[in-house]
Amino acid sequence: MICRFLPWFLVPAAAFAAEFQKDIVPILEKHCYECHSEKMKKKKAGYVFDDLETLKLDINPKGAIVPGNPAESHFFVVIADANHEAHMPPDDNVPSADVEKIREWITQGASLDGKGKMTGLENKGKAKPGLPPIMTWINFEGKKIKAGFVRLDGENVILRMPQDGKEVPYPLSKLDTTSQQQARDSAQ
Ligand code: HEC
Repeated sequence: MICRFLPWFLVPAAAFAAEFQKDIVPILEKHCYECHSEKMKKKKAGYVFDDLETLKLDINPKGAIVPGNPAESHFFVVIADANHEAHMPPDDNVPSADVEKIREWITQGASLDGKGKMTGLENKGKAKPGLPPIMTWINFEGKKIKAGFVRLDGENVILRMPQDGKEVPYPLSKLDTTSQQQARDSAQ
């Protein structure tokens, strides 16, 4: 056993191909469906993982699952980082071997059918209704805000709060310049 005592991010990438149906679905079923599935009629934060048409919309370069990049995938980060404010599942941990499988699956392109890689561009331009991807915003005091972009409204940016899904207007002038730019770019 070479990797037992190494933190998960130092463990060398496993040489196995993770398949969505075979390897990933059982993990989601066990640890996530309770609160995120059509089956249980629960859609916490708008996420359902047993409806592939819906899940697909989260897999793109700006989505919760970024093909090829687990570290940028909010979906992965909340599972892997036990100290994350939105750690999932809320009162439990996915076993590290399963976290690794999910990491492999995303690294290999997060394909849902096992037939080759998704580039994420399949969904370009198809925003998921009511569920903008969560981004980080920084205000002029340096405080970080995690929220989805909804639209620009005059001097305000309308942000969607992940905790309760509420839309909140935030004055553009109170964001730092990078976040102001992010708002303008998101409005394109
Ligand atoms: C016991 C219920 C429960 C389980 C089990 C659960 N979730 Fe959640 N999840 C929630 C709730 C409630 C929210 C919204 C509140 C929040 O963000 O904490 C949420 C929000 C999320 C979010 C958005 C996080 C954010 O930043 O707002 C993601 C992504 C997510 N869950 C993924 C998962 C995954 C993946 C699993 C399985 C590994 C999982 N959840 C298991 C209840 C659950």
